[in-house]
Amino acid sequence: MKLSSPITAAIRVGLFSFMIVALVSLVYHASKDKIAENEYLDLLHSLQAVLSDSYDNDLVNDVIQLQARTIYRARQAGQPVAAIIKTNTPHGYNGDIQLLIALNMEGRIMGVRILRHKETPGLGDKIELKKSTWILNFTQESLADNDLSLWAVKRDGGLFDQFTGATITPRAIVNEVKKTALFFQQNQQSIFE
Ligand SMILES: Cc1cc2nc3c(=O)[nH]c(=O)nc-3n(C[C@H](O)[C@H](O)[C@H](O)COP(=O)(O)O)c2cc1C
Repeated sequence: MKLSSPITAAIRVGLFSFMIVALVSLVYHASKDKIAENEYLDLLHSLQAVLSDSYDNDLVNDVIQLQARTIYRARQAGQPVAAIIKTNTPHGYNGDIQLLIALNMEGRIMGVRILRHKETPGLGDKIELKKSTWILNFTQESLADNDLSLWAVKRDGGLFDQFTGATITPRAIVNEVKKTALFFQQNQQSIFE
């Protein structure tokens, strides 16, 4: 039977629409997987940047939430070796600063990196490793090494340098790293339970 032309046209339009929907859905699913993979790799690289210990577990997925912090746990042959704590301080010059802090099982800091901030270029942004090496001052430090009152910027009587004309940003970071190291000391057991 020969189809009349309006019906043929309707079928063509239907088929065409179906193909478009199928194509869009295919592209969406392919890019969703790619985005998830990129996010996984980005996070893994950030975690590896602060961690100097060797580990053999799936760092990104060995994660817990505790007291508003996200904690990634590094293990070697099932034994805990370090925790990488994602935390946030609201005390930056321009508000929130998000950071990663890795601590080994002795509570010694393995590394600190800034994940996100809105500090002023040329002033507060020296907390970024690509702008200055200031953030490396925390590596190998431990609360046990000195009197707690010295865990502060020099302007506040402590050991850590501030930046010229910019004390607010480094003070926020020094205080947050200290707070996080204390948190780790007090919660180490429940973190690895
Ligand atoms: C436009 C502007 C932007 C500033 N940005 C920052 C900043 O990102 N971080 C910071 O610590 N101080 C910043 N400051 C300086 C602070 O206002 C403050 O003076 C300083 O942190 C205090 O440090 P000091 O006691 O060493 O001078 C900025 C000041 C101005 C006027």
